[in-house]
Amino acid sequence: MPLLTAWAPGRVNLIGEHTDYSGGLVLPAAIQLGIAVRVEAVAELVTLSSDTFGDSEPFAPNGDGPAVSGWARFGQAVARELDQLGRPPVGLTATIASNLPAGVGLSSSAALEVAIALALCAIAEFELEPLELAQACRRAELRAVGVPGGILDQAACVLGEKNAAILIDCSTLAYRSVAVPAAAALLVVDSGVARSHEHSGYADRRNELEHAMSTDLADLDPLSQRRLRHIKTENERVVRFADALASNDLQAAGRLMSASHASLRDDYEVSTPELDELVTLAEQAGVYGARLLGGGFGGAILALVNASAAAETGAALVRAYRGTARAITVRPSGGARVDSAASNRKAPSPAPFE
Ligand code: GLA
Repeated sequence: MPLLTAWAPGRVNLIGEHTDYSGGLVLPAAIQLGIAVRVEAVAELVTLSSDTFGDSEPFAPNGDGPAVSGWARFGQAVARELDQLGRPPVGLTATIASNLPAGVGLSSSAALEVAIALALCAIAEFELEPLELAQACRRAELRAVGVPGGILDQAACVLGEKNAAILIDCSTLAYRSVAVPAAAALLVVDSGVARSHEHSGYADRRNELEHAMSTDLADLDPLSQRRLRHIKTENERVVRFADALASNDLQAAGRLMSASHASLRDDYEVSTPELDELVTLAEQAGVYGARLLGGGFGGAILALVNASAAAETGAALVRAYRGTARAITVRPSGGARVDSAASNRKAPSPAPFE
């Protein structure tokens, strides 16, 4: 029997893509798939092992010492960030299980960071506010793999709510939930082209945006104008999308998703031919709307579909796509949590892609 299990979900972002790192608006939902860290014992070092990811080298509970390699880099970086916030240096031995596909745009690295952070905090009886923990994990990602992400993924992971998306203002971290109508299903279709923002153009886009934002309007080159136009129009779409959901207008919400995709493709230039193909196929199949999911450069699309047609539409897209796609329907679900031994949940079942 483990001492405790920390669980953290992946996320989809309904709309508001590449807006987080300039203090804009995002509207993510945590999903039912995630990563579980089962803490077996308190120990001198932090030792993480996983059937899903493989074994890893142990590291010191304050994250100090030689950098470990592979996926445990995230754990070591989290330990380092928590140490800076005052977490007592308590080690642990834990096993990690996941049913959240990696490299698809469902934020598996944020789920891993948050689950490890929750386990490290719980075992040391150290408490942080959810958004403080999320910010420590965002800094850990930069420390571990040099990806200068915004707060979207980690915030969605800790704030998730059943049947709702979370509207977050990334400049103040103020947030509120927006109910997702029961008639709407969220269909994720993976293009089969994996991407990692460690090697994608993600950091380039962030630099281009920072350059554009610090340039006088009169001196803006065409590329900077396109980058800024995406941010401005995407922030407007987030507000209109939240209104559309609140008034149960799925047609309007879907049109905004498709407009978001066009803007990410043409103005922000983070799409790929495979993602464009899947979005076009989804639109032809009669979804309300579809767009690339997460940072882009590969990974998956998200389609807003009538709940009664979700499975059928997913299967049709997989058949029609020229590559090897996988489809799954995700549900807005609760955020990360810790279960004590008494209420321990079972390890997640294997990845449910069809
Ligand atoms: C990645 C990053 C997020 C966000 C999205 C794009 O998922 O981790 O912070 O910038 O891309 O919206």
